[in-house]
Amino acid sequence: MAWRVDALYFFLIALSVFFSLLIAGLIVYYAVKYRRRTPDAVGAPIHGSIALEVAWTGIPLMIVMGIFVWGASVFFAMARPPDETLDIYVVGKQWMWKVQHLDGQREIDELHVPVGRAVKLIMTSEDVIHDFFVPAFRVKADVLPGRYTSVWFQPTVPGRYHLFCAEYCGTKHSGMVGQIVVMEPSEYQTWLSGGSPEGSLASTGAKLFADLACNTCHRPDAQGRGPVLEGLFGKTVTLQSGETVTVDEAYVRESILTPSAKVAAGFQPIMPTFQGLVTEEQLLALVEYVKSLKGLPLVQAR
Ligand code: CUA
Repeated sequence: MAWRVDALYFFLIALSVFFSLLIAGLIVYYAVKYRRRTPDAVGAPIHGSIALEVAWTGIPLMIVMGIFVWGASVFFAMARPPDETLDIYVVGKQWMWKVQHLDGQREIDELHVPVGRAVKLIMTSEDVIHDFFVPAFRVKADVLPGRYTSVWFQPTVPGRYHLFCAEYCGTKHSGMVGQIVVMEPSEYQTWLSGGSPEGSLASTGAKLFADLACNTCHRPDAQGRGPVLEGLFGKTVTLQSGETVTVDEAYVRESILTPSAKVAAGFQPIMPTFQGLVTEEQLLALVEYVKSLKGLPLVQAR
């Protein structure tokens, strides 16, 4: 994305320089050319010029509309990740970046990614607002407590890149820095296979799902008191109010912490809240577990 952002940015700079010089130059030139030559000179009366007015309205209008369309296209490209992404979870905390890979690896203030793959980060904060900023990738997004934000990027050159927190978040804000390590795919595989004793994030979530006894109500056979979760992620569900909601990370998270907020139609609001019982990282594991339940739903998800 960097060259697209830069192209737009340098175009804006060049445009500003061009008009600044043009206007300043004309001011000086006309001041000299039309200066008062005798003490009693009187200026010539000027009447409007439709052609001139249309030109100085129309040309800037086209230029700014061009900038708008160009900027919007870059914005959409940044806001919409490709279908196939390598998903990685990030939790900001005073004052560190905690990274959770789907394979189970965790790291702090470092993020290892393979070169050439589109990477999507799903981010949240467990305390205050932080901001994930990788200048080399032209990537920056607020990381907010209580919700998920995401950014994506596709690294093109192996190396190490600065990661900063770009939102003042307390005493050690300036020290909340890290590194993005972009590796060759083979090196990355080696790094990944360095392994996590705890297994994949989804399996951690599965264990938690059982430990918290979620599975007593959310059963795969549609006999449970809660909705069947198999195959649910990404689907649209109808709520009691008749509204619909897409099952994404935010909805799963909300349903764990505030179950009564959006109850699926046909179910009683009997689920207790798990607020305070699960950490942000455990929530991510649960979300990932629900995501992983794609296979073979016995009944169609509601
Ligand atoms: Cu976190 Cu500034």
